[in-house]
Amino acid sequence: MSKKIMILGASVLQLPAIRKAKEMGLTVVAVDMDPGAIGFAETGIIKEVISTIDIPAVLEAAKRHRIDGVMTLASDMPMRTVAAVAKELGLVGVSEETALKATNKAAMREALREYGVPIPQFFKVSNRQEYNEVVGQFRSAFIVKPADNSGSRGIFLIEDITNTALIEQAYEYSRRYSRGGDVVVEEYMRGPEVSVETLTVDGTCHVIQITDKLTTGAPHFVEMGHSQPTRHCSRTAEQIRWVAEAANKAVGIQNGPSHTEIIVTEEGPKIVELGARLGGDCITTHLVPLSTGVDMVECCIRIALGESPDVTPKFKKGSAIRYFEQTAGEVRRIDGVEAAEALDGVQQVCIVHGVGKTVTEIDSSAARLGFVIAQASTAGAAVAACEAARDRVTIEIL
Ligand SMILES: Nc1ncnc2c1ncn2[C@@H]1O[C@H](COP(=O)(O)OP(=O)(O)O)[C@@H](O)[C@H]1O
Ligand SMILES: [Mg+2]
Repeated sequence: MSKKIMILGASVLQLPAIRKAKEMGLTVVAVDMDPGAIGFAETGIIKEVISTIDIPAVLEAAKRHRIDGVMTLASDMPMRTVAAVAKELGLVGVSEETALKATNKAAMREALREYGVPIPQFFKVSNRQEYNEVVGQFRSAFIVKPADNSGSRGIFLIEDITNTALIEQAYEYSRRYSRGGDVVVEEYMRGPEVSVETLTVDGTCHVIQITDKLTTGAPHFVEMGHSQPTRHCSRTAEQIRWVAEAANKAVGIQNGPSHTEIIVTEEGPKIVELGARLGGDCITTHLVPLSTGVDMVECCIRIALGESPDVTPKFKKGSAIRYFEQTAGEVRRIDGVEAAEALDGVQQVCIVHGVGKTVTEIDSSAARLGFVIAQASTAGAAVAACEAARDRVTIEIL
């Protein structure tokens, strides 16, 4: 009988896991609170309409189906449920403590500090009074962010530390996105941003790839592109690798993936945050396979089932993703997608919010209209291919 894997979430983010597990001949139990979730449209899977954060209900379903593994792909929300189910059923997964440290930015910062991993100065604040006391301690720019959200939601940069009105506003803005009410205030790190994609198997952390990032910058820092491998020099890449591995140890990942965001400051690489999951934005589902030949999704499924995945790179190429620029309004016309897709190296042109949809300016990842993915011999060539493809597409927003 085939093994049974439970996948928490059936949205577009989890779809690659559902499809890969099917391809591997596994029985898939997909869990999502939305009966219309895109993953539920896959044939031959078992569907459970349950919220992925409803631990008792997911646990009941996991026992009823006698699952052999539990996982989620690129989202933080179900992480604590994965940990609880894995613990109760004796399956491979992160511990509940690790799940908390990997999803709550305050708990994460504390764990990293305790372990001596390079991080910016930070404070956790639970109310406005604490906030007012803390902001007075900063002598230069700082970032305000919800302790427990993602996708750049609620991120606010204060460059001018004398602007009290804006400082007030930053708290209100960030607090609105905080589920538990806590907000983290931290020193603003300057420098290029990278992420490190890892797979840990029985306590050994394998760095699979380092990704260079492009963001919208202040005030909301939404990611506009990623490319691999990193174009930093080998010495810096080595430091980045070391800091990511130390962060993995600090939060206690024994088995499973991680996506660690790092800023390369003048004092060396420092951690922005770590997720005990695969990187989103097609980084691990598309870019890593294109640049290394490693199928991280398959590896994650095998780790969850207690198997040993093959994590060795198959080749060295460049890969990149670039998102379209956009303004607020209604998308009236999109031309040139086919011509763009026909360009050398271009793998995919994807429109997420198409004609007839109303879009906003890019203030979070979810707002982005679409993207282009390319593969080439180097990261630079892959970026150039994405840019050429983006130039071929005309998007009219009114
Ligand atoms: N302390 C910081 N210094 C500089 N940039 C930061 C800092 N914290 C966050 N950022 C920027 O904001 C982005 C989003 O912040 P992050 O903590 O990763 O939250 P999210 O969970 O929304 O991804 C980061 O990728 C980075 O570009
Ligand atoms: Mg982040």
